[in-house]
Amino acid sequence: MDSTLSVKDADGYGMLDAADKHGYKNAYIDYLQKLALDREAAFKPADVVLDFGCGVGRLSSWLAGRCRRVYGIDVEADLLRLAAQYHTGANVLYQAYDGKTIPFAQAYFDAILCVRVLNKRILPGENFDWALGELHRILKAPGVLIAIEHVYGREQSKCYQREELLASFARHGLICTSNYPIRKGHWPVLYLIRLGLISPGFFPLLAQYELGKRRHEREACLDYKDYLFRFEKKD
Ligand SMILES: C[S@@+](CC[C@H](N)C(=O)[O-])C[C@H]1O[C@@H](n2cnc3c(N)ncnc32)[C@H](O)[C@@H]1O
Repeated sequence: MDSTLSVKDADGYGMLDAADKHGYKNAYIDYLQKLALDREAAFKPADVVLDFGCGVGRLSSWLAGRCRRVYGIDVEADLLRLAAQYHTGANVLYQAYDGKTIPFAQAYFDAILCVRVLNKRILPGENFDWALGELHRILKAPGVLIAIEHVYGREQSKCYQREELLASFARHGLICTSNYPIRKGHWPVLYLIRLGLISPGFFPLLAQYELGKRRHEREACLDYKDYLFRFEKKD
């Protein structure tokens, strides 16, 4: 199990679930997210890609195996140090970010990945609007931005609602071309995974099953779902 997945950020939140003692749940979610990203096929071999809010770099190093060059940026120096130690690659570079101006020129990136960053906890109100302006600035046209976020079917203190996300991105010229759930927050099977009652050898099968099952569901009021969003900046 990759122990960096339960590392906490400065607010005490994990890259995935900081409370996952044994690491099985995080390993499952990590596998499922990567499978969903592979199926979305947004990142191409010639691409220069930004992993925005990269944390310990679990997705930066994964992207590096698929793309020409990857930059991971984050506001926390401690997380970037772990990224540089555990999630390296000849074509991955980690860089500090002041939380305001993304340190790259206009239209620098072919594609951008944002996982569990575009939410009210990390980017509330005006900060969110500012970040979207910055992401739009550094993305080429045509270019693609993929986000994975928790989505609830009701107003919630830490997460934006689906319609709010779509409207905010659209205001910044980033049009949503698809969005769908990939995982359910409190799926009973996930508890069995977390307790170590399902062997990690079954994770690929379960992740494939879950992706297929969720695809045509919608957000629910009581439980969050992880959604994958694809936004495009047109020519
Ligand atoms: C839940 S973690 C997700 C990390 C990584 N994307 C992943 O999925 O493994 C959220 C990350 O957002 C970073 N973060 C906090 N404030 C930020 C900001 N203003 N801009 C970009 N990232 C920020 C945190 O330091 C943390 O690494």
